[in-house]
This record gives sequence, C-alpha cells and structure tokens, in this order.
Amino acid sequence: MRPQSLGYLIVNAKNLDDWPRYATEQIGMQAGERTSKTLALRMDDRKQRLCVEANGGEGIGAFGWEMADADAMRAVATRLEAAGVAVTHGPRALADERRVKELVIAHDPLGQRLEFFHGAETAPDDFRTGREHSGFRTGPLGVGHVVITVESAGDLLAFYKDVLGFSLSDYYYEPFEAYFLHVNPRHHSFAFIATGKRGYHHVMMEHWSFDDVGQGLDLALREEGLIGVTLGRHCADYVTSFYTNTPSAFMIEHGWGGANIDPETWVATHRKEGPSLWGHERLWMSAEGRANARKIAVNNASNGVRKPVQVIEGNYRLNPGVCPWWDSLTGKAR
Ligand SMILES: [Fe+2]
Repeated sequence: MRPQSLGYLIVNAKNLDDWPRYATEQIGMQAGERTSKTLALRMDDRKQRLCVEANGGEGIGAFGWEMADADAMRAVATRLEAAGVAVTHGPRALADERRVKELVIAHDPLGQRLEFFHGAETAPDDFRTGREHSGFRTGPLGVGHVVITVESAGDLLAFYKDVLGFSLSDYYYEPFEAYFLHVNPRHHSFAFIATGKRGYHHVMMEHWSFDDVGQGLDLALREEGLIGVTLGRHCADYVTSFYTNTPSAFMIEHGWGGANIDPETWVATHRKEGPSLWGHERLWMSAEGRANARKIAVNNASNGVRKPVQVIEGNYRLNPGVCPWWDSLTGKAR
C-alpha cells in the first residue's frame, strides 16, 4: 500500500521571521498557528501543509506522506521493516504537532526523514489566501511535488519504487540525470536530479489560476535575487512556472496547468526533450549548464515540440468564432 500523496512538509529555518512575508505575500499561503519555534502555513482546508521549524537548519526536515488509513500506515511500516529499514512509532505529542491522528517515522537511503501518517486535521475556519489569489490545487494530489538534488541516482530509485511502491513517471539524462516518481495522478510528487551535490532543489505548488502565477512573477520582480528560475514551461507535466528562492535554501516553483496522468496505465519513458519546452533559465546553473539547457529548449522549438495547455474548469473561455455551436449559446457577446 503506497502513500496517496505528499501530505505535508517540515521546513528547516534559521529564523522564523524570514518566512511569513514570503509565504503569504509572495506565494499566497496563509500563516496559521505560530509558536516560539514553529510556524504553520496553510494552502487549503488543512491546519497545515508546511510547518516551518526554527531549528537552525535549512532545506526540508521531513516529508509527510499521507496514507489512506491506519492499516495502510501499518502496511508501509511492515514493508520498510522487511527491507531492513528501522521504523519508529511517532509519539502522541509529535502527532499533535503534525496535526495528524497517527504517524510512523523512517529514513530513506540518503537519511531523509519520512513520516507516514493518516488522519490529517482540517481547520475550523476557511482558508484565506495570503495575497489576492485563487488558491492552490491540492486535495488528493497533495501539496505539490518536491525535487531534491543528489550526488548520483544510486539506490534511491530502488528504495522509492520497490519498498515504498512509487511509480516511475519518466527520466532523462540531459542537461542532468533526473527521475520523476508518482503516487497519484499528479505527474510527479517526488523527483531527484543528479547534480553531483546533495541538497533540496524545489517544492512545486500549483496555483488555481494562471494569473496567480503571472501576478506572483510581478511581485517577485520587485525584489533583486528572488527569482531562481525564469518563466517557462515543462515538457513532462506541462506546468507553466517560475521559481523563487525561499529563506531556507531551496526554491518554490509557482506552477499552473499540471497534467493528470492515469497511474494505472502510465508507462515511463526516456524523455529526450529535457526539462523544458521553453524558458526556465536556471539561474542556479553554471553558464555552461545554462547554455546546454538553452540549446535543448531551442532544439525543442526547431522540432516543433508543443503540448496541449491543461486548462481546468473556471480557467478558460473560447474566443468568439472558434466554435459556432458555443457562439450560438453565448451570443458571442464576450
Ligand atoms: Fe518542478
């Protein structure tokens, strides 16, 4: 029984005060409960999707993988133990902190802390976005996706596939080696890229409206050095996005228009067109790496690589003249 989705993330921070303005005014999350050491951040009806912990660190402190129920949580614990991975039951106080009914804790081969939980608490009050914003696409798809950087792919793929039951979505080798894994219809909930250096690359959050991304871009452009990757569109999940640098040494990808896959029938392929259809100048890469990535994107354009836009209800209207039947219903007056 594999996880249903990426349910929450624990974010390490040096100083809690670095986060509230960025999370609310730039991303659009809602600041939830705050203690002297923690700050809860909401993206939806859940009490927290991100919890920032002032522990002097950076990056992701724990991945909260959501299980269907207590039985599914115990089943994943049994699988981990059978694979020789130590599993501990989360104490009641930790479950309360995480705002879940119950959790178990284990570590992946890189030593990353994984928390498998069930029964997330919802908040009694409605979600209120931190800036004028239409909300996030979460629900059964979870927070979004996390991409980490690794020295080499090693046995991480085997652990996530064979022990945890994640499925490979696709992979490529240029401009860096990358593997994308899914647990639900979101193209990937977890991915790792072999850049030669261990670290946390980014967390993708999917905004409900395309304009949430564009307006977030305007906000980000006001602050020198905030943008980590420029506007562009991904080949695999069709997400249009840009990335900003968080206060905790990873980026948040402001995305829109993620494609759904059918996890039952999806077949992983070698994605030869690389990461992006266009754009996505990666300011974190070396000049040489950026030149190579740009070459791949320009080749995509030369080869006519185009992907359908993944519009969702409430995000589109056809232009008059596109469909006579629709025009007859709407009177063209739009
Ligand atoms: Fe991403």
